[in-house]
Amino acid sequence: QILPRLYHEKVIDHYNNPRNVGSFDKNDPNVGTGLVGAPACGDVMKLQIKIDEESGKIVDACFKTFGCGSAIVSSSVATEWVKGKSMDEVLTIKNTEIAKHLSLPPVNLHCSMLAEDAIKAAVKDGELKRAKLKGNSSADA
Ligand code: FES
Ligand code: FES
Repeated sequence: QILPRLYHEKVIDHYNNPRNVGSFDKNDPNVGTGLVGAPACGDVMKLQIKIDEESGKIVDACFKTFGCGSAIVSSSVATEWVKGKSMDEVLTIKNTEIAKHLSLPPVNLHCSMLAEDAIKAAVKDGELKRAKLKGNSSADA
């Protein structure tokens, strides 16, 4: 008589109230942008991190996801998890942890993979920009 609960309530919460939807200026030198696509379905996720110039920690994050519900909730959780962490720390976030946190069904693992990939891409972009920043400032000095 009870319908099987397909999705965990956390999923529904993140789906109804996705956290940190939006965009930062991708030309901001302290913003790292990760734009990734899932070959399996064509869904696309953009995740951005704002990096504190001095501490190198991620102080803010946002996302825009053109994709399925699982990709949206995964990116919402990802933006929550990266805030306050260092770039090295967030590189250890695994898609399986996100999937487990949200109790995503195995068929949606590639959706949470998109979030892991987007974090990695955002960090890579952020690090490149920071390296450039440093390069410029030492050239100016
Ligand atoms: Fe939102 Fe855990 S339920 S990050
Ligand atoms: Fe492709 Fe979810 S179905 S990201």
